[in-house]
Amino acid sequence: MHKVIRCHKYGEPNVLQIDELESRVPGPEEIRVRLHACSVNFPDILSCAGTYQDKPAFPFSPGRESAGEIIECGNSVKNFVLGDRVMLWCGSEYDGYAEEITLPASRAFPVPPGMDYVQAAGFMLVYGTAWHGLMDCGNLVSGETVVVHGASGGVGLAAVQLAKAMGAIVIASAGSDEKLKIVSSQGADHLINYNTEDTRQRMKDLTEGKGANIVFDTVGGKVFNASLSAIAKEGRILIVGFTSGEHSKAPTNIILVKWASLISVRFGQFSRIYPERTRKNHDNLITLYEAGQLNPYVGKTYKLVDAVDALDALKSRQITGKVILVI
Ligand SMILES: NC(=O)c1ccc[n+]([C@@H]2O[C@H](COP(=O)([O-])OP(=O)(O)OC[C@H]3O[C@@H](n4cnc5c(N)ncnc54)[C@H](OP(=O)(O)O)[C@@H]3O)[C@@H](O)[C@H]2O)c1
Repeated sequence: MHKVIRCHKYGEPNVLQIDELESRVPGPEEIRVRLHACSVNFPDILSCAGTYQDKPAFPFSPGRESAGEIIECGNSVKNFVLGDRVMLWCGSEYDGYAEEITLPASRAFPVPPGMDYVQAAGFMLVYGTAWHGLMDCGNLVSGETVVVHGASGGVGLAAVQLAKAMGAIVIASAGSDEKLKIVSSQGADHLINYNTEDTRQRMKDLTEGKGANIVFDTVGGKVFNASLSAIAKEGRILIVGFTSGEHSKAPTNIILVKWASLISVRFGQFSRIYPERTRKNHDNLITLYEAGQLNPYVGKTYKLVDAVDALDALKSRQITGKVILVI
C-alpha cells in the first residue's frame, strides 16, 4: 500500500485527502517508481478549485511532476533498468502527489548526475514552460530585452535564468523587495517592484524608451496593461498565466499601432501534442543545467502529507521559487 494525496471534490486546498492505494503492476511499456519528491505548482491550486483548463475525473491527484527511483520495469521497457533515478511528467493523468506511481516509461527522463530528487521533481514544468515560451513562442534572440513578470515564482525564476543563459538582458518584476533580492541573485539585470513602482515607466526607463522585445507574463492584470504601453516594435507579449486573477482585455488598435504580438503559451498542451519537440527542448535544458547555466531554486520543502500547507503557502505568496513535497 502507498499514500496518494487526492481531490474528491473541488474547493480550497484543504479538500485534499490522504488515500491508501494498492501498488499497480506495470504493463509492458510501464515502470513503477518509488517517489522521493513531488513538485507543487500554481496550476495545482487551480485544479483543486476546478478552475483549470483540464478537469480530470474525481478522484485525482493535483500534482503534475515528481522524481524517484525505478523499482519495477515492464517487459518491453528497454531504456531504463531497476534503480535508475528518473524525473516524471505525470501531467493531469497520473498521481503527482504520491509515495509511488506506475506510469508509461515514455513519461520518465533520467535525472542528471549532481541533481538531487528535490531539484529534479520541480525541473520539468517550470523550465519546460520557460523554454516553450521564450524559445518556441517568443523566438528569443541573444541581446534582446526580456521582461519577466512574476519573476519570484517557480516559472518566473526559471524564465529569468533561461533568458539570461540565452544572452538576453533581463528585467524582472515581483511583488516585494525581499523576493526581488533573491531574483537578482538568480541573474536578473534590472528589477521592478510592481506593488510600489510604476511598472510601465520603469520598463520604458530601463529600455531607454525603446520598450521590451519580449514580455513573459505570469501575472496579468495591471502588469499586462503596463506591458502593452512599454513593448518594443515587433515585440512579443507571452501570455503565460494570471496569478493576479485578472484577465485583461487587449485593445487591438494598440497591438496594431505598436506592431506587437500577443502569444499564447500552453506547455501542457504542447507536451501532449508534440512529445518529440518537448523531449528535444528538455534535452537542451539538461545541457544548460549540466553547463551550470540553470540552477533550480527551491524556496521551501514540505512533507508529502502536508501538501495542503504547501499549496496554502504558494497561494498566499509566501514562497520564492519552487515548493517541493519530500517523501
Ligand atoms: N502557460 C503555461 O503553459 C503555464 C505552465 C505552468 C504555469 N503556468 C502559470 O504560470 C503562473 C505561475 O505559476 P507558478 O507555478 O510559477 O506559480 P508560483 O510559483 O505561485 O508563482 C506565482 C507568482 O505570481 C505572483 N503573484 C502576483 N499576484 C499574485 C496573486 N494574487 N496570488 C498569487 N501569486 C501572485 C507571486 O509573486 P509576488 O508575490 O512576488 O507578486 C508569485 O511568486 C500561474 O498562473 C500558472 O497557472 C502557465
